[in-house]
Amino acid sequence: MTRMLSTATQPAAPDRPSAPTFAVITGTQVQQALSGREKQIVELIEATYRLHGAGDSVNPPSYFLRFPDRPTARIIALPASVGGPVAVDGLKWISSFPDNVSAGLPRASAVLILNDPGTGYPFACLESSIISATRTAASAALAADWLSRPRPRPTRVGFFGTGLIARYIHTFLAGTGWSFDTIGVYDVSADSTAGFCGYLHQAGTSAQVTVHDSAEDLIRSSDLVVFATVAGQPHVTDPAWFTHNPLVLHISLRDLAPEILLASANFVDDVEHCLKADTSPHLVEQRTGNRDFLNGTLNDVMLGRAAPPHDRPVIFSPFGLGVLDLAVGKYVYDEAAGAGNLRLIEDFFHDLRRYG
Ligand SMILES: NC(=O)c1ccc[n+]([C@@H]2O[C@H](COP(=O)([O-])OP(=O)(O)OC[C@H]3O[C@@H](n4cnc5c(N)ncnc54)[C@H](O)[C@@H]3O)[C@@H](O)[C@H]2O)c1
Repeated sequence: MTRMLSTATQPAAPDRPSAPTFAVITGTQVQQALSGREKQIVELIEATYRLHGAGDSVNPPSYFLRFPDRPTARIIALPASVGGPVAVDGLKWISSFPDNVSAGLPRASAVLILNDPGTGYPFACLESSIISATRTAASAALAADWLSRPRPRPTRVGFFGTGLIARYIHTFLAGTGWSFDTIGVYDVSADSTAGFCGYLHQAGTSAQVTVHDSAEDLIRSSDLVVFATVAGQPHVTDPAWFTHNPLVLHISLRDLAPEILLASANFVDDVEHCLKADTSPHLVEQRTGNRDFLNGTLNDVMLGRAAPPHDRPVIFSPFGLGVLDLAVGKYVYDEAAGAGNLRLIEDFFHDLRRYG
């Protein structure tokens, strides 16, 4: 049984902490809270990266649950805590089942649990595939902005892999002021390219949209390349495709061969996180035995401690941090609470008196 209640209307006993509440926030509510807020969310992601960079967070390694009988599937646990004005603890639990796509379901599904940093009590469970895609796209738009300074922004973008994440990244680029002369599209699935082109037209793009049938053509004709495939191992191996020095958002993390990273400037979100789980940067570290190929984190760039060069490709490989999910999840919770739309689950916590 659910009831609608804003936090402001919850009873608070004067002599003891108010009884904990538990809210369930649906995908519809999440989308309502986030839609059209691209600029605010990118600012929130920037602030969260700065908090994380300043040490005001706890973000242990993600745990990958894999299955011997379902080798392409995984479920990842991302526990985290973030301080500052966000001030929340929690856990993201996100599945990736690539075979879902052919059955008409998105690859990823997720929930996010928010915990009260004062009591530890979980106080909300949010549908989180939208939150995850949103924070990923906001982080990509933020990196595109910082890593393309002070050069003029790229006007030829290429999407390599055109599923849900590519759609969110385009939405966030467009929603934060990017406009493109050309949009290149490449995917191994004709259904995906058709779906993505349909989305671009619906979104009202004025760019010339080109579907490439060669990966090389897409990369050579793009100054901003977005990788959002589900490749498990590098499949782009020729550094010559990158001699025009594009900015590369390597969101899917495992597309590029070590040779390409070694010929480029490399930025990550968090070094310890990114050099794990056979990502392309991890493969470079395994091959070279060092981390000299890394130029810094995005936070280093935002703080002026590292700068993207102009004479090499620039690659951003974000592992994806749980603190970002928490920040966006807390934003959604606050929006729902502020609008009086929290759906509280009555009696979720029971038997709260120690001796009955
Ligand atoms: N770094 C992060 O923070 C972060 C966060 C979320 C998702 N991701 C990653 O983003 C990727 C995309 O996620 P999604 O939800 O859009 O998946 P999706 O299944 O909706 O789309 C993936 C697309 O890639 C295409 N593809 C697969 N292999 C390809 C190849 N070799 N060349 C070209 N296209 C190829 C598929 O046909 C599909 O259209 C995943 O790898 C996911 O793990 C990263």
